[in-house]
Amino acid sequence: MKIIAVSNYDEMSRQAAELVVDQVKKKPTTLLGLATGGTPVGTYTKMAEAQLRGEVTYAQCRSVNLDEYMGLGPENPASYRYFMQDKLFNHIDILPENTHLPSGTNPDAAGECARYDALIDSLAPIDLQILGLGHNGHIAFNEPDDHFVAGTHVVDLGEATIDANQRFFDRREDVPRQAFTMGMAPILQAEHVLLLVSGEEKADILHQSLTGPITPQVPGSILQLHGNLTVIADKAALSKFPIGSF
Ligand code: F6R
Repeated sequence: MKIIAVSNYDEMSRQAAELVVDQVKKKPTTLLGLATGGTPVGTYTKMAEAQLRGEVTYAQCRSVNLDEYMGLGPENPASYRYFMQDKLFNHIDILPENTHLPSGTNPDAAGECARYDALIDSLAPIDLQILGLGHNGHIAFNEPDDHFVAGTHVVDLGEATIDANQRFFDRREDVPRQAFTMGMAPILQAEHVLLLVSGEEKADILHQSLTGPITPQVPGSILQLHGNLTVIADKAALSKFPIGSF
């Protein structure tokens, strides 16, 4: 595990985008694993800026996203498909047909999970998986539980996650209670995992995830088992690590 301590969110985003751009330059057909949420937005902006400057093209890249709210279609501004279009895909030259998320509106939930797993299998391994960390330690929408789940599945979102995500909705009642999420297997099988964490409110859970027991009650702790994990976190997020660790 490599931990890169940076001063703030902007610096985290800059270094993360640099890492993505280097990866895509090295392998133009890179399969990117992408996350939504507030954490990677700055990285996505800087990835688009790098293309504008002529440093990189994403034209041959493919992408798979971690999750999607159940019941929300691509036209819904709170859906993760909409988010990805708005924050990244509309600003880079990746081909629309090469970008993938679970379909939140497939009425056949089990069929959708099987479809998404088969799709990931056909593209895998993910070359670079970008992850954020939930306040309760979730990665993707793998919520604290008594076991880890390998494949794509439907999850009931915990109250902490609903609280954290209500900022993207008009009202708390509008936050879907369920989501499709990628399981742990494709994340653990990714060639390289990039965990991004910013802010003091994530300090405890980041410390637990990286140094505590590996347990499904802290889903992010499973990342300790990954052989090629890079963490880019700001000083606030790393504040529970002993002074002088980095
Ligand atoms: C998003 C995702 C989540 C977020 C996590 C952190 O696709 O899978 O695990 O990464 O909830 O969210 P933010 O970045 O908003 O704090």
